[in-house]
Amino acid sequence: MPGKSTLSKALAVAFAVLTVSAIGGMISMMIVFEIQTNNLTMTELPTVPSTTLAPPPVMRLPRSLIPERYEILLHPQFYSRIVEEVNVTTPNQTLFFNGSSTVYFRCHQATKHIFLHSFELSVSPPEVIDRDNNKKLSVLSHQQHDDESDFLEIEMEENLKTNGNYSLSLSFDGEISEYLQALYVSKYTETDLDFRFLVATNLEPTSARRLFPCFDEPDMKAVFQLTVIHRRGTEALSNTRQQRSSSIDEEWKYTQFFPTPKMSSYLLALTISEFKFTTSPENRVTIKTYARPEAIDAGHTRYAAEITAEILKFYEEHFDLQYGMEDLAQIALPDLEPLAMENWGLITYQEGALLYEEGVSSWLHKEVITTVIAHELAHQWFGNQVTMKWWNEIWLNEGFATYMSYLAVDHAEPKFQIKEKMIMDDLHAAFEEDALLTSHPLSAPPNDVQTTGEILGMFDAISYSKGAMVLRMLAEYVKDKAFDDGIREYLKTHRGGNADQEDLWVFIQNALQARNKESKPTVQEFMENWTTQIGYPVVTINTISGSINQKHFLYNSSAVSKYGLLWKIPITYTTNISEPNDFWLGERERGTDGMDELISKKGEWILVNINTTGYYRVNYNVENWDRLLWQLETNPSRIPLMNRAQLVDDAFNLARAKQVDVTLALKSTRFLRSETAYLPWESAIRNLEYFILMFDRSEVYGPMQQLYLRHQVEELYNFFKNQTDYSTVPDDHSLQHNQITAIEVACSNGLPDCVEMATEKFAEWMDRNDTNTIHTNLRSVIYCQAVAAGDKKEWEFAWEKFLNSTDTSEKDQLRKALSCTKKTWLLNRYLSYTLDPDKIRLMDVTSTVNHIAQNAAGQALAWNFIRAHWDYVSQGGWRGRRDAASLVMGVTRRFSTPFELQELIRFRDNTEMNGAYRATLQAIEQTQVNIQWVQENHDAVLEWFERETANLE
Ligand SMILES: *[C@@H]1O[C@H](CO)[C@@H](O)[C@H](O)[C@H]1NC(C)=O
Ligand SMILES: *[C@@H]1O[C@H](CO)[C@@H](O)[C@H](O)[C@H]1NC(C)=O
Ligand SMILES: *[C@@H]1O[C@H](CO)[C@@H](O)[C@H](O)[C@H]1NC(C)=O
Ligand SMILES: *[C@@H]1O[C@H](CO)[C@@H](O)[C@H](O)[C@H]1NC(C)=O
Ligand SMILES: *[C@@H]1O[C@H](CO)[C@@H](O)[C@H](O)[C@H]1NC(C)=O
Ligand SMILES: [Zn+2]
Repeated sequence: MPGKSTLSKALAVAFAVLTVSAIGGMISMMIVFEIQTNNLTMTELPTVPSTTLAPPPVMRLPRSLIPERYEILLHPQFYSRIVEEVNVTTPNQTLFFNGSSTVYFRCHQATKHIFLHSFELSVSPPEVIDRDNNKKLSVLSHQQHDDESDFLEIEMEENLKTNGNYSLSLSFDGEISEYLQALYVSKYTETDLDFRFLVATNLEPTSARRLFPCFDEPDMKAVFQLTVIHRRGTEALSNTRQQRSSSIDEEWKYTQFFPTPKMSSYLLALTISEFKFTTSPENRVTIKTYARPEAIDAGHTRYAAEITAEILKFYEEHFDLQYGMEDLAQIALPDLEPLAMENWGLITYQEGALLYEEGVSSWLHKEVITTVIAHELAHQWFGNQVTMKWWNEIWLNEGFATYMSYLAVDHAEPKFQIKEKMIMDDLHAAFEEDALLTSHPLSAPPNDVQTTGEILGMFDAISYSKGAMVLRMLAEYVKDKAFDDGIREYLKTHRGGNADQEDLWVFIQNALQARNKESKPTVQEFMENWTTQIGYPVVTINTISGSINQKHFLYNSSAVSKYGLLWKIPITYTTNISEPNDFWLGERERGTDGMDELISKKGEWILVNINTTGYYRVNYNVENWDRLLWQLETNPSRIPLMNRAQLVDDAFNLARAKQVDVTLALKSTRFLRSETAYLPWESAIRNLEYFILMFDRSEVYGPMQQLYLRHQVEELYNFFKNQTDYSTVPDDHSLQHNQITAIEVACSNGLPDCVEMATEKFAEWMDRNDTNTIHTNLRSVIYCQAVAAGDKKEWEFAWEKFLNSTDTSEKDQLRKALSCTKKTWLLNRYLSYTLDPDKIRLMDVTSTVNHIAQNAAGQALAWNFIRAHWDYVSQGGWRGRRDAASLVMGVTRRFSTPFELQELIRFRDNTEMNGAYRATLQAIEQTQVNIQWVQENHDAVLEWFERETANLE
């Protein structure tokens, strides 16, 4: 529920004073906009009383009025620095803003009621003008709906007429958020100890209405012309280039921006800061990368500036469509809730997603930066130029941005081998979430996605990762060229407008036909069930009978029968003696007739879903599994790399869903002893993590970790020791990843050589203090392992370094390392630090607590902690909703006892959930699954590890 405006008393006092200067602002506004607003007093609006018995509110705006253009004046009243000087009265920070706006709109259907969105703003009586007759109209009332609709309703005395042109002007004031929502303040330090402040916006999906009253729905596209009054000494940035800028008085100046192209309200952006910028190499578009002056001077934006230019050029060519603006600004913010936000022309990033420090950042960090930039730049087309009609199809934004980013990164940095790595980052993430009944279809029914909470719920692994993987499957099927042609036409046709997935299918189908390719099924027939149904299938092949069937894959196997879902599945397969082949599986099952090709000859194995291009899992009869695993143990390179990773992932998840024996999953890790490639290792480690989470507090721990895993990783550890002695890193990018895996697995399972290495390297740093000789790639893992093996001394050294470092990536890895200690009292102290924003930034609270929960020693502490401090850690609104959900998911991952389940249910029933409700239901479902799984598998797992390690030690 929207809370009432909560201006604190101090702010209210300051407000009274500043309303006077607001009048000054109004005067300059009138010059700029020629708005004639007589009544400038701000009043609290009457609210429509809400009764609990009322029907649920209508959440969507009527389509009777369509906005065309906004003129907005904003005046944020904050200081970018508070100078502490003797004898000078220090002003208090003033965190509020005021402004005024005029929206020009067209009436499509006569009405007396104007509905628009407004939230936590105090709004003046509006003025409505009939622009066709230049006549002021009489307004009967204006009121704020006190429900989740956030409607501001204005009642006119007479009808607005069909096809008439009108404008609505009003002034308003609101608070600058301290919680990273809407227009928010961020505090950071510059050169030693001086505090600085900046404000920035973060409006997706429904926070534009907290900045100014507006038609805040993605298909209500309009032109925005923004003018900002800000303090001299600061620079204001918005989506477009500055049109004019000039001083108003000693204290204030104003900056007016060029009108934006027609766009959705959630894409509007504003920052006011003392930042500096780096310009990218020559390009059609002027690209500026902004950051703290210190970071700019030290060259930390250089890599981002270069790679951005390259990626933007790639997209312009690939889409055969220009980016749509003359300028592109991107800014590294010390605080931002999402990793980045694609505001058209002014992309905001967390510092860690943009800043790279030579000699300090891990080489692998470039992969993160490049991927995030490529994702946000892809949105400049998918999302900004062509937008989904409603939030239920946010996957058209996020799935495309994710998928396209892989093409762009592969172009800009081919050595990252990102197209292979995406199966770890997206395929597995989507598979995991989509195997629960609480998943949702990519394209959810619009009625299920109405409130802000429901909209936020759509920003998940399904929309991002499943979206990307389903597009990858489609691109593979229609072949890349037709896919590219199709999306080019789609973008050109819908540019500046909104589209839904049906539009997309039509264009790709047309592109296929233009290439004289017949497609059976059609794109629409193929895609329909992948995007409108939840979940995905597991395809089961029996190489003795030649039968093949599909079934909805769910972890909770007892739920399967209720869901008779079907998909059109592109089956690709290969064997050890024949070439790849393919066919469609549209029905539930195909018998032995006509499937001779699936019957294996003596010694032959069949591998289905080559390179995992299909969004489905594969199961086989035991004989075929055994042949595949034998192949892996004897000559793994006969099986494509991505499939080596996928076989492990399928085996483990099928076991989790009780469709194969758990020992089959464990057997699929045997070949790792002689495997050096990254993907299979990473896949195994992520899957074994479930076993570790379920069993690391039980007697399985010894044989599983101290014996088996330590033994499995020994050769890999020595392989890198031989090559690099852990002082340098391999040339190959994916081996660089695997070197880290080697240390992580070896040390965390107690390989003495590894623990000694990490401890020594860390001790050397502690001795020399200012000289850190640990290779930047290896710092994160070595810090963590050294703190884990160490005591108070190591922890406090890391904490000191954390406090004193100004480098974001170094800070992040130290923050993570601090959670690795095994000492409960240190972990408790660390948890308490997350309540102090001067120690742990608000935006880092969730990940810090989740890191601690990840540690077996910290699990229970973190769960107690979030319940004791739920209000702080789940602070309301945009950021809170996401963080709350992520905390519940993170902290409950080990839950596998009836007691923990009860606690979780009590938590659900007694706590104000906000955005964590769905996550809590998921956690409950997962805990139930875990309890059963542990009961059923404990003995078999223990026995397998004991047998497997009988000859060791
Ligand atoms: C502050 O005021 C005191 C007394 O009013 C004066 O002696 C001192 O010089 C002033 N300091 C500064 C830095 O102006
Ligand atoms: C700043 O706020 C404090 C209380 O928070 C108050 O005592 C002080 O007078 C204020 N200073 C100014 C200049 O308003
Ligand atoms: C889509 O799924 C439904 C049931 O889940 C099924 O009846 C229908 O035939 C499927 N459509 C296609 C094209 O496979
Ligand atoms: C599978 O992917 C690899 C790259 O990892 C590629 O070389 C190979 O051609 C792909 N195989 C098929 C059948 O597409
Ligand atoms: C390490 O290198 C030596 C000689 O270069 C070689 O004999 C040995 O097998 C290597 N060990 C590993 C684990 O790669
Ligand atoms: Zn995105």
